[in-house]
Amino acid sequence: MQTTTTNHAEVLAQKIEARQAQVGVVGLGYVGLPLVVEFAQAGFTVTGIDVMQSKVDAINRGESYVQDVPTSVLKPLVEAGKVRATSDFSVVSGLDTINICVPTPLRKTKDPDMSYIVNSCQELAKYFHPGVLLILESTTYPGTTDELMLPMFETDGRKVGRDFFMCFSPERVDPGNPNFQTKNIPKVVGGITPACTKLGALFYKQALDTVVPVGSTRVAEMVKLLENTFRMINIGLANEMALMCDRMGINVWEVIDAAATKPFGFMPFYPGPGLGGHCIPIDPFYLSWKTKQAGIEARFIELAGYINGQMPHFVVDKIQNALNDHTKPLKGSRVHLMGVAYKRDIDDVRESPALDIIHLLGTRGAKVSYSDPWIPKIQADGIALAGIDEETGCREADCVVIVTDHKKFDYAGLVAQSRLIVDTRNALKGIESDKIVRL
Ligand SMILES: NC(=O)c1ccc[n+]([C@@H]2O[C@H](COP(=O)([O-])OP(=O)(O)OC[C@H]3O[C@@H](n4cnc5c(N)ncnc54)[C@H](O)[C@@H]3O)[C@@H](O)[C@H]2O)c1
Repeated sequence: MQTTTTNHAEVLAQKIEARQAQVGVVGLGYVGLPLVVEFAQAGFTVTGIDVMQSKVDAINRGESYVQDVPTSVLKPLVEAGKVRATSDFSVVSGLDTINICVPTPLRKTKDPDMSYIVNSCQELAKYFHPGVLLILESTTYPGTTDELMLPMFETDGRKVGRDFFMCFSPERVDPGNPNFQTKNIPKVVGGITPACTKLGALFYKQALDTVVPVGSTRVAEMVKLLENTFRMINIGLANEMALMCDRMGINVWEVIDAAATKPFGFMPFYPGPGLGGHCIPIDPFYLSWKTKQAGIEARFIELAGYINGQMPHFVVDKIQNALNDHTKPLKGSRVHLMGVAYKRDIDDVRESPALDIIHLLGTRGAKVSYSDPWIPKIQADGIALAGIDEETGCREADCVVIVTDHKKFDYAGLVAQSRLIVDTRNALKGIESDKIVRL
């Protein structure tokens, strides 16, 4: 007797190879929308699902709201009927593959917030049908796919690897990176069964340059956490170096640049005002939360988290000391932040250290303004502030602080116009001036 295992896997593989599979992407943000576009460009018809009606409407008008997806790329795909978006999960009945790219934030207690994954899976489960390939891309703790998600779909006698297929594939997108985008970043994928991995790899191969299959969903989940924990801990080390060098009167930037000339065994990481973004400050805590359940304390993660968390305080102390050296108290002084995005050349303030710095400056009585070509206004973390132009900000401030080293800033002009500058990014490398205080 022919088993249904072979049938579902074979039918789906044929549809994928013929690019006839109906592709679905749930969560149309920084990760989901670029993925929609890649698969549509590879010839698939892609349906995006999002709970936010404004995003759905924008996509259906062909308008992109994600920096890495130009409207000039999205619009023709929408007009050709290759991309459409909806907030109605009933479209799942007609889909063959579904990638889940919903948020996975931390709760205030640093516990994973799985509610977005659970909510989207509950909706998907209502319209689930045999033969579907389901791939989770949201960053999460090892075990999410097989412990949390699988039981929601393996119901009514349906068996994973036979009746449907499930994988985890970490998203490694680096918003604003001109060299690496969804298409050319190697894609790791691990399935719950070998058949799942095989189909997951086949699926990604249609649209992406390099696919890296691994033995299980847990390996794939852990890959992402290793990558981001590696970064977070090394940045923590660079920040600790900065704190030590500051005490000893050594220029930490010069130290790192010289160390980086070693052609092996060293990789430079740089200090800064603190961690930001949706990944590096958050993902390692997914791991430490999970390992705690297994009785292991993730000590490196906790320590790096502590040091990185001190950096906005250190920056504000630097600002205060720099002003005091100019016989000005921080209280009542005007402090102008250059850049509030969490990193260079992007339009995202999520978890940005600038938000902490604004709060800390506010509590110490400073008057805060900012300029950022990517962020016209901040409406986050209880802050409501509109950006002002660079020149006015620098000219009127008692102290200018470079928080984000956007390429668009006129650094020579900034130095000429400002009275005092605290540079947290070494953006003024090579410029010598008594006005400059470096991290
Ligand atoms: N942004 C990055 O640079 C990046 C990089 C790698 C990994 N990731 C991970 O990818 C995941 C998504 O991140 P993002 O930056 O794209 O987030 P995002 O907030 O930009 O997008 C998520 C989208 O999901 C939608 N959504 C929320 N709940 C939903 C639901 N129940 N059903 C359907 N849609 C829903 C939201 O409306 C939003 O549009 C996260 O786990 C994140 O950690 C992000």
